[in-house]
Amino acid sequence: MKAVLLRRFGGPDVLETVDLPRPTPGPGEVRIRVRAAGVNFAETLMRENRYALTPPLPAVLGSEVAGEVEAVGAGVEVAIGARVIAPLFAAGLFFGGYAEEVVAPADWLVPIPDGIDFDTATALTVQGTTAALLLERAPVAGRTVLVDAAAGGVGSLLSQLARRAGAARVIAAAGSPEKRAFALALGADAAIDYGAEDWSEAVRAANGGAGPEVIFDSVGGRITEDCLALLAPLGQMVIFGALNIQSFGLGVAELTRLIFANQSVTGFAAAPLLTPDRCRALLADLFALVVAGDLKVTIGAVHPLAEAGAAHAALEGRRTIGKIVLRP
Ligand SMILES: NC(=O)c1ccc[n+]([C@@H]2O[C@H](COP(=O)([O-])OP(=O)(O)OC[C@H]3O[C@@H](n4cnc5c(N)ncnc54)[C@H](OP(=O)(O)O)[C@@H]3O)[C@@H](O)[C@H]2O)c1
Repeated sequence: MKAVLLRRFGGPDVLETVDLPRPTPGPGEVRIRVRAAGVNFAETLMRENRYALTPPLPAVLGSEVAGEVEAVGAGVEVAIGARVIAPLFAAGLFFGGYAEEVVAPADWLVPIPDGIDFDTATALTVQGTTAALLLERAPVAGRTVLVDAAAGGVGSLLSQLARRAGAARVIAAAGSPEKRAFALALGADAAIDYGAEDWSEAVRAANGGAGPEVIFDSVGGRITEDCLALLAPLGQMVIFGALNIQSFGLGVAELTRLIFANQSVTGFAAAPLLTPDRCRALLADLFALVVAGDLKVTIGAVHPLAEAGAAHAALEGRRTIGKIVLRP
């Protein structure tokens, strides 16, 4: 079977399409014929060995797939042909997805209902559950919300779900006019260019002069510092991105503001919050919203497996919107 292999860390061109032996499911496992393998931003950093977790080389990246069960190991009762998601990341398996066939633990499978295609299913797996769980960690009802990278995979779902959760105002921050137009089309109240020097002022101007009460930041560096300074009194900022590994100022001045403004900064990682049942329940809710037309999933691009490098280049080059999918 074909798979995308990482033999050494580096730029997008180190991703090679190779033939690997077809994997055999062991007891409690299934083999899935992959129809859609999700690409996530964290994988671009894993490829460069800049992520919190170092891939054991050689590695096949990819932490979520959707497809059909084509073989089962001992003790597994899942039907051959069943349409499923394997949320590998939630099972603590952050690798293996960029392949034609993937072996996954049967107890983590999530059935895909009628009306949901494989691309949409992958878009909701890492990014959808992340958006839903972020809103549990930081309730937004009646509060003003700033979403960074709002046109991305997580951001485009998070902005919509924040609105549904009763946010008083959703402000989208994004890097290009096209992305800001997209965020507004998804229902954001305002869209701000956070590449501009004076972007904090633009956020306040879009929010009646005040800072946002909840901020979801995945960008890191200067943007994280600006977000901390923007946060309203009693506000909550959630830091959840791969790029938040960059250091930012949290010295006496920042801590004093945090203390006297009664603010909180919350770290967030989706995988440790998920169990198989929790994952199925969250995805069932997300599927229902999509089928009802209440949540829009945008597939920004679908690439053949052999173009995994191009998919990474587009993602890290900030040229994508919504979900990026590999089609084996
Ligand atoms: N903690 C968790 O459990 C968890 C789970 C899933 C995802 N995440 C994080 O959520 C974030 C979004 O993930 P995603 O897969 O949905 O990606 P994405 O948002 O589709 O793509 C990343 C976006 O980040 C923005 N960005 C800002 N600075 C950037 C830079 N220096 N280089 C590249 N992009 C930059 C770009 O949007 P603009 O052009 O608009 O700036 C880019 O489109 C990532 O940081 C990811 O690690 C965390």
